[in-house]
Amino acid sequence: MQALDLIGKVLLNEGDTMAGQFPTYLGALDSWRPRRPHFRNMNLQTNDLDFVAAMTDAKFAYTVPNFSNPTGRLVPEQTRRELVAAARQTGAWLVEDDPYGGLSYDGPIPPSALEISAEDEPDDGRPYGGPVIYLGTLSKMVAPGLRVGWVIAAPEMIAALTTAKQGSDLCTSGLTQRMTCKIFEAGLIESMNPVMLRLYGGRRDALLAAMDRHLADFFDWQFPEGGMFVWASAKDERLNTDALFKVGLEELVCVTPSSVFDSQEEFRRGIRLNFTINDADRLEEAVIRLARATRRLLATLG
Ligand SMILES: Cc1ncc(COP(=O)(O)O)c(C=O)c1O
Repeated sequence: MQALDLIGKVLLNEGDTMAGQFPTYLGALDSWRPRRPHFRNMNLQTNDLDFVAAMTDAKFAYTVPNFSNPTGRLVPEQTRRELVAAARQTGAWLVEDDPYGGLSYDGPIPPSALEISAEDEPDDGRPYGGPVIYLGTLSKMVAPGLRVGWVIAAPEMIAALTTAKQGSDLCTSGLTQRMTCKIFEAGLIESMNPVMLRLYGGRRDALLAAMDRHLADFFDWQFPEGGMFVWASAKDERLNTDALFKVGLEELVCVTPSSVFDSQEEFRRGIRLNFTINDADRLEEAVIRLARATRRLLATLG
């Protein structure tokens, strides 16, 4: 999260243009909003997107290729290649935010944009100098409370981010950095990962099954191969999910409305559902409550 903020500090002046995968992680939008950028949406699920046009004159393009927040979708390899090619052609940086790459429930994932862009780098022992700024974190694989993440980028970008970080918090806590070293040395991620995949993968399937039973009349959704979320769109265009959020709270169920993932706050037909926190029984109960809230809201629309 801090890296997103630092990237804004380093790259964005008020009114600058940036491009971002749509819908966009709320925390990223919040990081950059204070700088009032002109935000170009890139919907990577449409086949006719012109990446070069989207990135021309943009300071950077932001993408979460693995199981994005909020959609849970995987960006195909070909699209990753097109993003990298457009970054090279336009001179825009390509920010690859990857908290969820380790949470793949159904098999291997495509190479990262960082790996793809490194294919074109000279093999002469010099550090990576490509357009990708890769962001990793321990938050989803170990514990969000550690607040430890990392950036892989060209030396000039690392230098600029380091200066910005010093101006922000001097450095990350030495204590949590040492804990992180121990976590890696002990192979904790490798030993925890299969357990997490079984647990979260089972919960994903439980949520989807409950949605099939109770929400199919009201919403469409796509199967997330990984990550933490199902993204659903209302079938009835009149169903405003900001309003559904409020009725849901009355039924004691909480979903995230799509407007918070839109830089213009206009998209109001979607909801994000998390499946990693609750067990199958609570997920079923939550979906029943959400269906009740949806029915109540639709009844007010006539
Ligand atoms: C896409 C994305 N980027 C970054 C973050 C924040 O990660 P961290 O806990 O490492 O700050 C999140 C957390 O939800 C996320 O979904």
